[in-house]
Amino acid sequence: AYTAEPFVPERGGLPALRKAAAECRGCPLHRNATQTVFGNGDTDARVLIVGEQPGDQEDRQGKPFVGPAGRLLDRALAEAGIDPGQTYVTNAVKHFKFTSSGPGKRRIHKAPSLREMTACGPWLAAELALVDPELIVILGATAGKALLGSSFRVTQQRGTLLEEEIHGRKARVVATIHPSAALRADDREAVYQGLVSDLKVAARALG
Ligand code: URA
Ligand code: SF4
Repeated sequence: AYTAEPFVPERGGLPALRKAAAECRGCPLHRNATQTVFGNGDTDARVLIVGEQPGDQEDRQGKPFVGPAGRLLDRALAEAGIDPGQTYVTNAVKHFKFTSSGPGKRRIHKAPSLREMTACGPWLAAELALVDPELIVILGATAGKALLGSSFRVTQQRGTLLEEEIHGRKARVVATIHPSAALRADDREAVYQGLVSDLKVAARALG
């Protein structure tokens, strides 16, 4: 089976994890992507925010949530009263998966498979152990399934404080939609307000 497990170092903290992840060959996604996009933030962060996978901009820049979805997320976090300095931001899958009709053509995001999410899980588990956050914010269905299992439904589980067991540890979780969903929606403003209102639940849980 595909797995990142043999690539994950047992010690050395975030710098060692980041360095090792850059060389991960745990699944085929590293072949076409530019680089590993590892999590970003302080290991003392109170909140771990988990998205799906890097997008086009993230793949080029090597940092999570630096493209359009990231800008919307930053705005929503600010509006909900969550200090970005208290967040560690990462993705369920660390390489960009896309389809493209040829060189120089636009690269179109493709959802990672369950096998790829499972393969990449050891990196997320290592980040979770290192950051040991007070709260996990899940962005969208892919991250939800990666962390809470395939029965996760964002429509049913969003916007409430959940107590879950994740990678063997008890965790407080608030799930919401992926910010990209707000960028794509016809009623963008309403969908965005839903994101903000879920993030306010997270802000309240932090006290
Ligand atoms: N979407 C994600 O899920 N993660 C990113 O880093 C960027 C866009
Ligand atoms: Fe490794 Fe994850 Fe990249 Fe697959 S997606 S190669 S498991 S870092």
